[in-house]
Amino acid sequence: MGRILVTHRLPDGGLVPLAGLDHDIIGPKPDDAPYSPAELCTYAADCDAIVSLLTDRIDTTVLDAGANGGRLRVVANVAVGYDNIDVPAAHERGIVVCNTPGVLTDTTADTAFLLILAASRLASTAEADLRAGRWPGWGLLQYLGRDVHGATLGIVGYGRIGRAVADRAAAFGMRVLHHARRPTESPGYVADLDELLAESDIVSLHTPGGAETHHLIDARRLALMKPTAVLVNTARGTVVDEGALADALHGGRLFAAGLDVFEHEPDVDPRLLDAPRTVLLPHIGSASQATRTRMATMATGAVAAVLAGETPANVVTPA
Ligand code: DGY
Repeated sequence: MGRILVTHRLPDGGLVPLAGLDHDIIGPKPDDAPYSPAELCTYAADCDAIVSLLTDRIDTTVLDAGANGGRLRVVANVAVGYDNIDVPAAHERGIVVCNTPGVLTDTTADTAFLLILAASRLASTAEADLRAGRWPGWGLLQYLGRDVHGATLGIVGYGRIGRAVADRAAAFGMRVLHHARRPTESPGYVADLDELLAESDIVSLHTPGGAETHHLIDARRLALMKPTAVLVNTARGTVVDEGALADALHGGRLFAAGLDVFEHEPDVDPRLLDAPRTVLLPHIGSASQATRTRMATMATGAVAAVLAGETPANVVTPA
């Protein structure tokens, strides 16, 4: 009988692809608490599959435990990002890694647009004042944001989500530029990231996390942006040097920011918490009922496929 570790509660229906299989499901803990690194190793050594979240660190220690136990075949992350998993190490040990591309594209692009609008139009500041009784009534000079329509949007990272944000931006009458590591052959491609940053009124980040994009937006690049510009991040917190961003916002060198992701989640740099004109969300990019259910069934479906000897479409380890 096989054993599958599911590290956290999934939305209703998330386990359906595993129903009827000859496998025991281990976890989640009754209080949905995370498994410690030591617990992950213990289960990896004795399970055929792990259904993980982006908050579970599946590093070489866990993968070694899985490889030494001799039965771990697949780790399926309920996320499109997989910077929490050491993918090359998994591949070396013959363990397949899967993610959930496609099913969260539009929901995450909606969240990016929510932040583009909210940050540009100072929605959080204005709402906080209203709730706190600080709104004295309508005033001609209050809460003067930046227009989104007609602005130039610079998209950094032009995968599925970046493109879906570009579609929304076109409907808002924006001029859309994009940067990606390789030429995209699409209109609006800018090969030089620095040039895109200098040219854009709003910059929205859609790169993967990981070593290659760590602090891609650092103090030097923030300084290239217009002082009237807005920075939006729904990708990974590590893509932005948060200290440098807080400095830019507090110093008035950037108009506003909209952040859904943070470098050290769930901790948020206190200087971002009190930064002016900043909209902060707790990593809810893909958080709609329907999308989270689709993500869960895609991950558990991949586990079912691998354990049945098939290759699912959503494999991130090289063939
Ligand atoms: C992902 O899938 O990588 C997001 O960050 C969570 O939906």
